[in-house]
Amino acid sequence: EQTGKSGYDHFMLKEIHEQPASLRQCLSGRIDELAGHIVVEELDELEAPRRVHFVACGTSYHASLYAAALLRDAGVPATATLASEFATADPPLPNGTLVVGITQSGETADTMSALRDANSRGAETLALTNVVGSTAARECDHVLYIRAGPEIGVAATKTFSSQLIGANLLVEKLLGKTTTSRELIESLRDLPSNVQAILDDSNAEEIVDEYLDSTAYFFIGRGLHFPVALEGALKFKEITYEHAEGFAAGELKHGPLALVTANTPVFAVVTGNDENARKTIGNVKEVEARGAPVIVVTDGQSDAERYADAVLKIPETHERVAPLLANIQLQLVAYHMANRLGRSIDKPRNLAKSVTVE
Ligand code: G6P
Repeated sequence: EQTGKSGYDHFMLKEIHEQPASLRQCLSGRIDELAGHIVVEELDELEAPRRVHFVACGTSYHASLYAAALLRDAGVPATATLASEFATADPPLPNGTLVVGITQSGETADTMSALRDANSRGAETLALTNVVGSTAARECDHVLYIRAGPEIGVAATKTFSSQLIGANLLVEKLLGKTTTSRELIESLRDLPSNVQAILDDSNAEEIVDEYLDSTAYFFIGRGLHFPVALEGALKFKEITYEHAEGFAAGELKHGPLALVTANTPVFAVVTGNDENARKTIGNVKEVEARGAPVIVVTDGQSDAERYADAVLKIPETHERVAPLLANIQLQLVAYHMANRLGRSIDKPRNLAKSVTVE
């Protein structure tokens, strides 16, 4: 098994470090830089839908929230539903609805059941998956592979990053755009090296050392960083067994603030220097006033660092790509905390890589 880990202590750390390569692989042949557009030949038959409904579980659900937000931003009605809630939510699926299952394994029972339900109700279905020939890939009308390579660690890392990129490819394709913004194309091109820069320089290991005895860990973000806050907390709780929660930054004052003390570090994701950044910095000040240590994940464009006890730096990039870079730092935070606590990182208690029961 040690050989399979290529010298890393855990598969999870190996897979975190594989991300420059897995992202390069996901993007390979899919960006035409000269023409300035995204190429997704496998979806050429897919007609632009009127609305899109994402279904997924766990980490893949967080990718779904991100993907739905991208589409809504572009004016296409889109929602994300937890696959296990799809049957009870029973959303209307009018003509022109595409139901997209985001599932790393392509085997998750809840996701398959939602996709089958959608299919039986006449909706077109698409699988965004990592596993070639998986049940989702075989049963859906369309499939887009994220090409992350095998992931052994139960906690999804490189597959989540590739789902976010897969979501970008899918969205550009669904919009039927003939060109993609130069800034996005360049940010995708630079993505593997930016991820590598984070992996080379991250101070996550030193930071977690400061907060080993905390009572709970909170993660906040706004807009496209909200799914990253949820994912940061999920990864953290899965492998550290510590209490962690992710919140939309603006929701803090509607309840979670009651939990914030000097013993609850808050990880805040703040990039760019727009209205979202300004408001999240406002939320950072609120938790700071309650004595909570604040760790900011930032590209340094705003003055968020001024209010932080510690900073996890990411390179400047397109606003759609920044959540992915921020998430890399949070993967490292979860990993190093779990490692310091001596947890069973690759096989956390009670969890399975792929859940094939509803
Ligand atoms: C399990 C795994 C999670 C994963 C979820 C969905 O709970 O432990 O890491 O996010 O299933 O899996 P999928 O294969 O559908 O993405």
